[in-house]
Amino acid sequence: MTTKKDLLPIELFKGEGIKILDQSLLPREKTRVFLKDTESVIKAIQSLQLRGAPLIGIAGICGLAIGSSEYGTEKQALEKVAKKIIGSRPTANELGLLITEALQKCLELTPRKRNQFLWNFAEKKLELQKQNDLKIAKLGATLSGITGGVLTHCNTGPLATGGNGTALAIIQECWQQGNIDRCYATETRPLLQGARLTMWELEQMGIPATLLPDTAAASLISSGLISAVITGADRIAINGDTANKIGTYGLAVLANRHNIPFYIAAPTTTIDKFCSTGKDIPIEHRDSSEVGGFRKERWTTKKIDAYNPAFDVTPGDLITAIITEHEILKPPYQQPITKVTEHNLYGEKDDV
Ligand code: MRU
Repeated sequence: MTTKKDLLPIELFKGEGIKILDQSLLPREKTRVFLKDTESVIKAIQSLQLRGAPLIGIAGICGLAIGSSEYGTEKQALEKVAKKIIGSRPTANELGLLITEALQKCLELTPRKRNQFLWNFAEKKLELQKQNDLKIAKLGATLSGITGGVLTHCNTGPLATGGNGTALAIIQECWQQGNIDRCYATETRPLLQGARLTMWELEQMGIPATLLPDTAAASLISSGLISAVITGADRIAINGDTANKIGTYGLAVLANRHNIPFYIAAPTTTIDKFCSTGKDIPIEHRDSSEVGGFRKERWTTKKIDAYNPAFDVTPGDLITAIITEHEILKPPYQQPITKVTEHNLYGEKDDV
């Protein structure tokens, strides 16, 4: 019997390291791993042992804190570690945003205070993410028309944020309010976050769930069983163009074709004010081996070439609304997105 605690993806041991749930092995093996050097944190992020944009942002700050014990708290050492961690996965906005913010703020302090500051800062961001998840869920559930069956993609639950999640938290709230009766989850090839993680989370939440191959999405939506598609995001440009797990764009096109809403749920930390459109968003391309097999299993004959982008960009004009912790943004997005980023964390006083 698994409990809510089993879904906890990260635990902070300030001054020592982090304990993570190895998401690459779920749901078959529930292995917790203690990471106490930056290299292991980077490897965990790259191998998706730790994943989801908000979670890797928080883990990234922890990596910097760990690095400050390993390599010292002088500016040059910290900048080097920060750069390395930020480079480990290019698309998720939180990784760069939160590490940059942590670095800037800790450099305002004397070197001997920096390690402690970084740990406190990571803890604070994790707490903030938990609160933001709750706000996103409540706000999202106020949208009318999310009834019957909803479709989601990839994984946006507790495993992806350290809190209740984003899109999946809205789905949970809608279910608790009695508005939906089933969540459909795409398997999310090639790394199967939907099949392995979302289905497992839905099971813990007690929400009736149906898994589908990614290729069945058009058939499902055209059957009329889906009232809305709700996904998360990895990076949102100022004009609303949104990068999320590969396959998201296709779902948005389908939703549009079949006249159902397509929603993005994300904290404002996912907005990149330096990206004016989706063309500015860096897209991670991953190794061909992920398409030619899974874990140790290979189904291609030899080392093949594969097209394996981890994310795609959905144009803002296909997105019915973006649910943030502050408000629900509606198109055209330029003005509301610019405004909502003003609430943002930069400039906030940190008494950590
Ligand atoms: O490659 P992943 O598993 O890290 O991709 C995650 C996603 O695409 C999520 O939808 C996104 O990070 C939002 S998580 C709340």
